[in-house]
Amino acid sequence: MKEKQREQWSSRAGFVLAAAGSAVGLGNLWKFPYIVGKNGGGAFMIIYVIMLFSIGLCVVLGEIAIGRATQKNVFGAYRKIDKRFSWLGVLGLIAVFLVICFYSTIGGWVIKYLAASITTGIGAEAKQYFDTFKVSPVQTAVCQILFIIATAVIVGMGVQKGIEKASKIMMPMLFVILIILCIRSLTLSNAGEGVKFLLKPDFSKLSVNTVIAALGQAFFSLSAGIGTLITYGSYLSRDEHIKKTAIYIPLLDTAIAILAGLAIMPAVFSFGLEPNAGPELTFITLPIIFEHMMFGRFFEILFFILLFFAAITSSISMFENILAFLSEELHMPRVRAAVILCFVISAASLPCAFSTNILADFKLFGKTVFDFFDFTASNVLMPLCGVLMCIFIGYVWKTKNAVYEITNHGRLPFRLAGVWSALIRYVAPAVIFIVLLFSIGVI
Ligand code: PHE
Repeated sequence: MKEKQREQWSSRAGFVLAAAGSAVGLGNLWKFPYIVGKNGGGAFMIIYVIMLFSIGLCVVLGEIAIGRATQKNVFGAYRKIDKRFSWLGVLGLIAVFLVICFYSTIGGWVIKYLAASITTGIGAEAKQYFDTFKVSPVQTAVCQILFIIATAVIVGMGVQKGIEKASKIMMPMLFVILIILCIRSLTLSNAGEGVKFLLKPDFSKLSVNTVIAALGQAFFSLSAGIGTLITYGSYLSRDEHIKKTAIYIPLLDTAIAILAGLAIMPAVFSFGLEPNAGPELTFITLPIIFEHMMFGRFFEILFFILLFFAAITSSISMFENILAFLSEELHMPRVRAAVILCFVISAASLPCAFSTNILADFKLFGKTVFDFFDFTASNVLMPLCGVLMCIFIGYVWKTKNAVYEITNHGRLPFRLAGVWSALIRYVAPAVIFIVLLFSIGVI
């Protein structure tokens, strides 16, 4: 009876765009171009793509299968398969909660910059502008809360009317904007230098570290392992081909990451600036470039719309993950759960907003609250949940049951079932475990 009331995606495109929206985020726009450039360009890209389409895709497939088979939120899904492993769902929820807290701080910055680019423009003094903004606790907190409210409103409207609709509007627009920015960037003088930085293979830079960086980035970028795809997969219809659907996620994620690189790096090199990653690139370097570019204001506005769409479709997936838990396990009506969650996340993420101002000197294990949340979630919990998810699929749920689900109870072919099973049982957990040890500094 209850299963019938569960919402579903209205179409395959709805799921694909929502899942791609979850995957495409800040990871693609401000981390990827830089990591690629620093780690050997095209050579890194080859490793990254191999990681993404082997281990990454493998986990994505298994994760969606758990969701579709159980038709439950992340906690309910683990519990339904084996009660002794419900704690894995809790771990996933904690990871997602930490990610959304620091992610929404940046989401707030994006809102501020979007508003500024539309109203006054950021101007040539971009560094000063950024420094003035980030030291204001009121501004950073208010913008962050606005970002969380925007997420809550969309998620509160439901799977089809909220998440799916927003993804169907934002993702195609994001793609078009990215293409426009690519064309602009690639037609600047000296753009070739940036393209070289990104694509020219430098095999001498490849090392074990590169492989580990590639897998870490692939995992974060796919939003894999912590249950967002369990929740999204649980809204898939029983007739959907999981295999055909899942492949779009790494495809779109990589395509957009590469386009983001091509939209950003040629412009950076063309203006003789230093390529860097993260906040500096987005909030200082790029505004300086826009300031000096013909029709720069127009491109500046487009860029921050792009960033906003990328960030909010990711935060929507995290919010939905927790909301599905509240509404299914604690039987809260959707809207009430959205409101409560909005308050809780706003409050819990305030220390992240304050990490650049009143709490700048407050350190947890030598890190600001923001960095601590980022590190714990991205470097520890995401790979940890990933390893445990593979082990769970391989040895608790058993790959034959997963394959049964992926093939719609044996009705669809899955020629690589054997390869997939071996990857999920042996290769993926081992490799992700090494990444985990590496990212916490044990290796
Ligand atoms: N994949 C998103 C990005 O690339 C981040 C994310 C992580 C989203 C975990 C959801 C869950 O920015």
